[in-house]
Amino acid sequence: MATKAATGGATPPRHVAIIMDGNGRWAKARFLPRIAGHKQGVEAVRRVSRAARALGIEVLTLYAFSSENWRRPEEEVRDLMGLLRHFLASELDELVSEGVRLRVIGDWRRLAPDLVAMIEGAIARTAANPGPTLVIALNYGAQAEIVAAARTLAEQVRDGSLDPAAIDEARFTEALETHDLPPLDLMIRTSGEQRLSNFLLWQAAYAELMFIDTLWPDFDEKTLAGALEQFGRRERRFGGL
Ligand code: IPE
Ligand code: IPE
Ligand code: MG
Repeated sequence: MATKAATGGATPPRHVAIIMDGNGRWAKARFLPRIAGHKQGVEAVRRVSRAARALGIEVLTLYAFSSENWRRPEEEVRDLMGLLRHFLASELDELVSEGVRLRVIGDWRRLAPDLVAMIEGAIARTAANPGPTLVIALNYGAQAEIVAAARTLAEQVRDGSLDPAAIDEARFTEALETHDLPPLDLMIRTSGEQRLSNFLLWQAAYAELMFIDTLWPDFDEKTLAGALEQFGRRERRFGGL
């Protein structure tokens, strides 16, 4: 459980998601190639996933590569995939020793075969860990996730195992990739952009949204603690009073 001290005594978030944006602008401001920003972005991932554990966040979900990011130049996509390989290879031991469970959401099975194998290995090695959980969204698009859930339910109806009248919000939620994670409490986007870019659209229904100007490579323990503090001051009403 996140410590109440971190949120000024309010109920702390169990599940935090971050749209890690601004690597390119971080690099541009320093007259560096975009890859330099992505490298610093990986350092921020290490920092922030450690900080999230220290603050007691149960689930941290990070948007690392969207299903739309294939539109970027081939060289940048290659660099991002290279950094992902490096991250998995260099972080796995720490994740295992820290008891972190790694989960990956999105259409990651369509990445390069060696990456798919690495990801499968990493998931398997951490599957029995008690948690917290680190979820990485890779080749993820929320609309595709929702469509896939609809397809799953449609197939169950066709097989006769599901009555269309039994499809409700809970049943739909069960068909999503995030079905076994706690509800999303807080969604942070860095770099000043104010959009969700196809991230966790269903899950964000009642999440608190936080758009902060910090560029992702500059995000650190203090930025996260500040976000939790601000979260603690929000009044969540869920439609009630
Ligand atoms: C986020 O930084 C990283 C990914 C989307 C993979 P960007 O690369 O989008 O950085 P900006 O938005 O161009 O600054
Ligand atoms: C969202 O950032 C995707 C990730 C952080 C992985 P983008 O930089 O791709 O989003 P847009 O294109 O500005 O909406
Ligand atoms: Mg961006």
